[in-house]
Amino acid sequence: MTQLETYITEHEERFLDDLKGWLRIPSISTLPEHAGDVRAAAEYAARDLQRIGFDKVEVIATQGHPLVYGEWLNAPGKPTVLIYGHYDVQPVDPVELWDTPPFEPTIRNGNIYCRGACDDKGQTMLVFKALESLMAVDGKLPVNVKVLIEGEEEAGGESIEHYVRTTPEPLGCDAAFICDTHMPGPETPALITGLRGIIYTEVEVQGARRDLHSGTYGGIAPNPLHALAIIISKLKDEQGHIHIPGLYDKLRPAAQVERDFWEKDPLNFAEALREEMGVSQLVGEVEHPPLERISARPTLEVHGIAGGFIGEGAKTVIPAVAKAKISLRLPPDLISKEIFRLFEKAVHNAAPEGVNVTVRNLHGGEGLVVDLDNPAMVAATQALKETYGKEPIYLREGGSIPVAALFNEILHVPVVLMGFGLPDDNLHAPNEKYSLAQFYRGIRTVARFLQNLA
Ligand code: BES
Ligand code: MN
Ligand code: MN
Repeated sequence: MTQLETYITEHEERFLDDLKGWLRIPSISTLPEHAGDVRAAAEYAARDLQRIGFDKVEVIATQGHPLVYGEWLNAPGKPTVLIYGHYDVQPVDPVELWDTPPFEPTIRNGNIYCRGACDDKGQTMLVFKALESLMAVDGKLPVNVKVLIEGEEEAGGESIEHYVRTTPEPLGCDAAFICDTHMPGPETPALITGLRGIIYTEVEVQGARRDLHSGTYGGIAPNPLHALAIIISKLKDEQGHIHIPGLYDKLRPAAQVERDFWEKDPLNFAEALREEMGVSQLVGEVEHPPLERISARPTLEVHGIAGGFIGEGAKTVIPAVAKAKISLRLPPDLISKEIFRLFEKAVHNAAPEGVNVTVRNLHGGEGLVVDLDNPAMVAATQALKETYGKEPIYLREGGSIPVAALFNEILHVPVVLMGFGLPDDNLHAPNEKYSLAQFYRGIRTVARFLQNLA
């Protein structure tokens, strides 16, 4: 066994304890009452970087939640890698569906259950532990490292975008590395070759100036909830086609190899996903294979609808307002700001007469396809091969990490997306978990990746 391997093996338990301490901090970025917790989670990360031996560790104040920055630049002549992660987490509702409290890390069946266990505290912590192990064994890192982690990713990431756009010089590097994605299974290592962008919107429909008795006014009053239902049903039909004029115009066809892979689905991912969701069949655009639909096609989803009466019993009311949260996932060539304008227009056109509709853009971000032909991707491929004993597969994922496209655009560097999440990790859902085996294997893989990069 190498010294590195021995160090990691001997410290697995403490690595896990350090993760647990971080997970106990309920750093929910979207809820203002948790701002103090978000800050505490930032400080926890900063302390860990200091302990590892980073030279310059800062908690950087922003308009929103703080960024944590650290650097170790004592490997002259070696490449510099910029490592990104996020320490904020999603809300926990519906809390009654959790088997154990959402912020009490609990080990069951080789998994750690907690909000943030995978996304992204577990995945960020494993990178920290790889750095710690390398530093402890060699007294130095094999490459120059800058770490930039944010506390606003789950809430749109405005502050990091502002920071990267206005302060790009100190972030200069040869490659960016992000550990915030999945592998299809514990024995199927993967590198992510693309992500979708996103626009997240709120549509508000206003009818009468106040709630109305449905007997007295039914028949003449506009009903905002019904109007919203009409709008939503016009935006996407039962075949999964989105009716936003211009939406598909700039979509570039994918490469033939990628289309073949989606078509053949040699590892039968589609069936595995169907089973894991617990549904009788997949839905959506039949003329596109499921793998393409979840990674490279635009989607439109309704996340929530609010309005009217939904308590126990009955109330005959025509509500004055109704609201919906609606997002679109956007393959790389669809620019979020442009698509928002098309969406806004389509919503207004779909609205029935007699109501007032407001469309708000809550946040957005761009997708990307990554360049495979660079030393960082080669180093990552090799690392996965070494720890998993087989060649990784190359896949796009349908989720969004807006900062990935930003690094690519502003810093002009390749972005390595190598994560160790599994499809059943329940991201953003009750009982989020992370596989301990993946956590420990991730540490080894990231350490190898940095060594290979050197
Ligand atoms: N880690 C996820 C993104 C992700 C999920 C990538 C699954 C690959 C597979 C990230 O934390 C996330 O949830 N991003 C948000 C976007 C953001 C702008 C709110 C998302 O994808 O909904
Ligand atoms: Mn994430
Ligand atoms: Mn997330």
